[in-house]
Amino acid sequence: MTGRIVLTSDHTAIALRQAIAAHAAAQGWEVVDIGPTTPESTPYPEHGAAAARRVASGDCRFGIVLCGTGQGIMMAANKVKGVRCGACSDTFSARMIRRHNDANMLALGARVVGEGLALDIVDAFLAAPFDGGRHAPRVEMIKALEA
Ligand code: RB5
Repeated sequence: MTGRIVLTSDHTAIALRQAIAAHAAAQGWEVVDIGPTTPESTPYPEHGAAAARRVASGDCRFGIVLCGTGQGIMMAANKVKGVRCGACSDTFSARMIRRHNDANMLALGARVVGEGLALDIVDAFLAAPFDGGRHAPRVEMIKALEA
C-alpha cells in the first residue's frame, strides 16, 4: 500500500520522526511532515490535533504521531472525529490496530522505543489491511460514540 501520510511530534521526538519520514518516503509513501523542526518545548495536543485533522479530512490516508510516551499525542488525536489512533510499542499491536480496529493513526513514544523497533512498528502498521468481517460492526460502534 502507498499513499499520503502525515507525520508530527512534539519536541521529544523530532529525530525519530525524521527517521520515520525518510523510511516511509523510501518505501514510496508521500510523506507530509508538519514539524516541528526546532527543539523548543511545544505542546503535543496541538500537533496531534493538527495531524488528526489531516487524516479526518481525507487529505492523508494515515497519520503517525510521536511524543515522549506516545500516550498524550494519541489522546489528543483521538479527540478529532473520524480518527482511530493507537499508541504501540510492539509490532503485534501495530498490525492488529489496523486489522481489527481499522486504525488510521499510529502513536509512538520516542522515550519508549528505539529507532529500529519504531521503524518495524511503522512497517507493521502501514502494511496491514483492515480485516473487515466481524470487525466492521465493532468499528461502526466506535464511530457511533463520536456522535
Ligand atoms: C513532554 O515532556 C512529554 O510530556 C510528552 O512528550 C508526552 O510524553 C506526553 O504524553
